[in-house]
Amino acid sequence: MSEVKPIFQPNKAFAKEARIKNMCEYQDLQDFATEDYEGFWDHFAKEKINWMEPYHTVLDESEAPFVKWFDGGKLNASVQCVDRHLTERKNKTAIIFEGDRGDKQYITYLSLSQSVNRMANLLKTKFGVKKGDRVVIYMPMIPEAAYAMLACARLGAIHSIVFGGFSSEALKDRIEDADAKVVITADGAYRKGKPYLLKPVVDAALEGNTPVEKVLVVERNHEDITWVAGRDYSYNELIDNESHYCDAEPMDSEDPLFLLYTSGSTGKPKGVQHNTAGYILWAQMTMEWVFDVKENDTYWCTADIGWITGHTYIVYGPLAMGATTIMFEGVPTYPDAGRPWKMVEEHKINQFYTAPTAIRVLHKMGEEEPSKYDLSSLKVLGTVGEPIDPPAWKWYYEAVGNSKCAIVDTYWQTETGGHVVSPLPGATPIKPACATFPLPGIMAEVVDDLGNKTAPGEQGLLCITRPWPSQIRNVWGDKERYVKSYFGDVVKDGKPVYFSGDGAIMDEDGYITITGRTDDVINVSGHRMGTAEVEAAIKKSSDVAEVAVVGKPHEIKGEGIFAYVVLKNEENLGELVDTMQAINNIIKKEIGNIALCDDIVFVPGLPKTRSGKIMRRILRAIAKGEAITQDTSTLEDPGVVSQIESCVKNGTCK
Ligand code: PRX
Repeated sequence: MSEVKPIFQPNKAFAKEARIKNMCEYQDLQDFATEDYEGFWDHFAKEKINWMEPYHTVLDESEAPFVKWFDGGKLNASVQCVDRHLTERKNKTAIIFEGDRGDKQYITYLSLSQSVNRMANLLKTKFGVKKGDRVVIYMPMIPEAAYAMLACARLGAIHSIVFGGFSSEALKDRIEDADAKVVITADGAYRKGKPYLLKPVVDAALEGNTPVEKVLVVERNHEDITWVAGRDYSYNELIDNESHYCDAEPMDSEDPLFLLYTSGSTGKPKGVQHNTAGYILWAQMTMEWVFDVKENDTYWCTADIGWITGHTYIVYGPLAMGATTIMFEGVPTYPDAGRPWKMVEEHKINQFYTAPTAIRVLHKMGEEEPSKYDLSSLKVLGTVGEPIDPPAWKWYYEAVGNSKCAIVDTYWQTETGGHVVSPLPGATPIKPACATFPLPGIMAEVVDDLGNKTAPGEQGLLCITRPWPSQIRNVWGDKERYVKSYFGDVVKDGKPVYFSGDGAIMDEDGYITITGRTDDVINVSGHRMGTAEVEAAIKKSSDVAEVAVVGKPHEIKGEGIFAYVVLKNEENLGELVDTMQAINNIIKKEIGNIALCDDIVFVPGLPKTRSGKIMRRILRAIAKGEAITQDTSTLEDPGVVSQIESCVKNGTCK
């Protein structure tokens, strides 16, 4: 049986004004969806989207799992996010930018429109970007990153943002997989008060054969960088000459809007493809329901635009609903761990959305910091990306939210496009560290391998049994991988259903708690990292014979990366520290700092079955310091387990 958790009722004054005010209203919406699924989505698609041409079919499942939403409709995501606000919200602030060093910009919807249109014109006329072209965006958190996304959307070009912390090799792989024609980047940006460079990473990624023809460089720092004639162009020099208006391409509902690469269970990241209408609809609906942002509110999501959270909840969702969204260039602990709370006070932020890792760091480094600032503007606090542990939840609720803000523990994924299981701040009685209920319209269930609902308190698989508008449409260029990755494991009523890759438990009250990935993906600081991807990088070391990577609980990051490495030549054991350094250097080069190992242990062999399969469960248990309870007699060499245990205990290297 699951443990009994305390329940926190919604703040009454808040609930009165909320879009969804109580559980009856929630249930009415969920009943609407259950009884008339297409009618439900039709209602909201008509209400929320500015269609250029109406759709004729709400949902076409004839080629499931390749589904079509709102077929026949035409729209443009940049019109939804910008143009339609130019009547009533022209002078409203769309984006508040705060730089690492405290510099600020207040960008109105009118000014946003002009910047997006100019950038679209620049891409179109100077670089020949057109509908369907892929544009890679490798940018820091500056307003031009949002302009770039929306400019691509305006032209119908498919953007693929690569997180600025990825290495040149990782960037190169993503550029090549997407066959991108243009890269938009910046010379550099600021972090912890110091400038850093991005453009050299792009230069390295474009060495040798590349599909990229042009590079647009935003000069944020005015750094001395290399310019390749005929390829690299300065945004700052060109942009003023561009006109304020560029026609928005009428996009089919199912035309791709963007790709975002994410880790899977093989070494190669997947280009998750999201299409236009369904994605933008759900981005807007969840913004409205889950954060309950009101017309005069200021909302801040601390994610980076390089991740799905930044796409949906910094740019597309807030702007589609006409909100004021904050973009922050810096890190939450600079100049000290009071930075976010200082920003909440200064900008009178009403909704604050961050990851448990950030909450743990802020708690650890500045437990008393929230009390130094006026945080009374806060109404909703959000978390995302990983399970939040009870101490962090408690501090967030009490010290930051003054025990009056709802904490929305939003569960979702790159593939779901937007939240799928989450509390509603005015309606849901919250159990701490629990994602609670599926959002209206989302048919999420906890099931066993056969698709049967699990009993309350029993561990199961989190599936979504009906297609929903913002779901992944394809793995770029690999239909087979799309089907295999998401629709291969669970069958319900004879039909394959979407399996998230996460385990979950539904309690006797119907509350869903996420228990974590069931595959070989680990969650480092809320970022997904495929163990196979890290292993592939480590194997590039000429010293390494074999490697297995697992996750290990980490106080701050949630999970850390633990690598078991078998060296080719055991005589190298004398230079272990050098070898460990070399391995981390390779990871840095192949993926980036985000994938550096927390622990590297050199072992004589790996625990394998007779058919050669590595028993990762054993390695996970050893990394955690747990006793081995599983039967090891089926291993090719059972003795290796105690050898590995003693290597870990003796810390051959750390
Ligand atoms: O394991 C789940 C975890 O993060 C994974 C998705 O990672 P990504 O695609 O990078 O997107 C992160 C931001 C949406 C999920 O498969 N996850 C996400 N939200 C939660 C979570 N785990 C527990 N609780 C959450 N609220």
